Amino acid sequence: MNETFVQRAYGRVNLIGEHTDYNGGWVLPTAIAQFTEVTLKQRNDKKVILHSSRQREYTYELGQEVPSHDWTDYLKGATKLLHKFTQEKAERFNGFEATIESTIPEGSGLSSSAALEVSFMKAIRLAYHLNVSDVELALIGQRIENEFVGAHVGIMDQMACSLATFHTAVFLDTKNLTYEQIELPYDQMDLLVINSGISHQLFAKGGYNERRAQCEEASKLLGIKLLRDISLPELATKKLPDILMKRARHVVSENERVHLAVKAIKNKDLNSLGQLFIDSHHSMRDDYEVSIPEIDFLVELTLAQSDTFGARLTGGGFGGSIVAITKKGKALEVANSILPLYEKQTKKKATILS
Ligand code: GLA
Repeated sequence: MNETFVQRAYGRVNLIGEHTDYNGGWVLPTAIAQFTEVTLKQRNDKKVILHSSRQREYTYELGQEVPSHDWTDYLKGATKLLHKFTQEKAERFNGFEATIESTIPEGSGLSSSAALEVSFMKAIRLAYHLNVSDVELALIGQRIENEFVGAHVGIMDQMACSLATFHTAVFLDTKNLTYEQIELPYDQMDLLVINSGISHQLFAKGGYNERRAQCEEASKLLGIKLLRDISLPELATKKLPDILMKRARHVVSENERVHLAVKAIKNKDLNSLGQLFIDSHHSMRDDYEVSIPEIDFLVELTLAQSDTFGARLTGGGFGGSIVAITKKGKALEVANSILPLYEKQTKKKATILS
């Protein structure tokens, strides 16, 4: 009973393929160095005792999970849905005491919540020998967000936190959940992730869910199941209300960019990859309207550096982080030249994450 079980999940940065996952499309995330780690000790009763830097102690009973609209919902949702899942296989788990430590900044668009769900469920799986795969854990993670937290997110973050590694990006088909690990050309490039210091607080229940509903509406009017099922030339021949056309155009063009990005990575063609990042940013800014002026400014500053191939908003938007690729060995130099300018203009503190 005194044995401890430790599990970690890394945050993710999505290289390209934004707001495509809930449209059955393609994404390309990779792991970042920041992580969440859960240390768990089993108990003989149904009590779950949580310790974290966010809250010294929080207790609840298995089977009594009720949302409280704070960070504990990700964990209560996890035990509730994991219980449902394992029960069907005649497996069970008892209560436990868990200590949670995280270095992923919240609201930064780098999957702090998915890393929390995944590391927590992996620790329960390890302690109680549960027969649940990494992909099943990711699917349960998405259900926690959809059914317990009320954020209608896609599957990218949980799959990335479950599967992504440092030197590869996961080229994931979010409809079929098939994926390929793509080697990143780190012999020729650096990856740079900068957190704008503006948290995407209103994201979950506001703009994000609205975008998702608009995509569903657009698909319905187009007579297709998912926006993944239409090409850009085909979309151009259709009639949709202006706003829905803009949303659909982002998703459909972004899917195309993911495929082109994979090709560019395989060919080590960093100029083309950089241009795809830039096009993706413009599409998120103008058609999907999920960027904010501070993020646009950060992207512009990064692109103005001659060692930058490309830069864009990453994650859901409305704040969060940017991702850029620079020439090999130049990421820090680029970041150090732009951060003072960003901070002077916006009065926000940006941080380098990768
Ligand atoms: C958030 C969601 C993901 C995905 C991205 C946007 O991170 O959790 O499912 O939709 O936004 O690409």
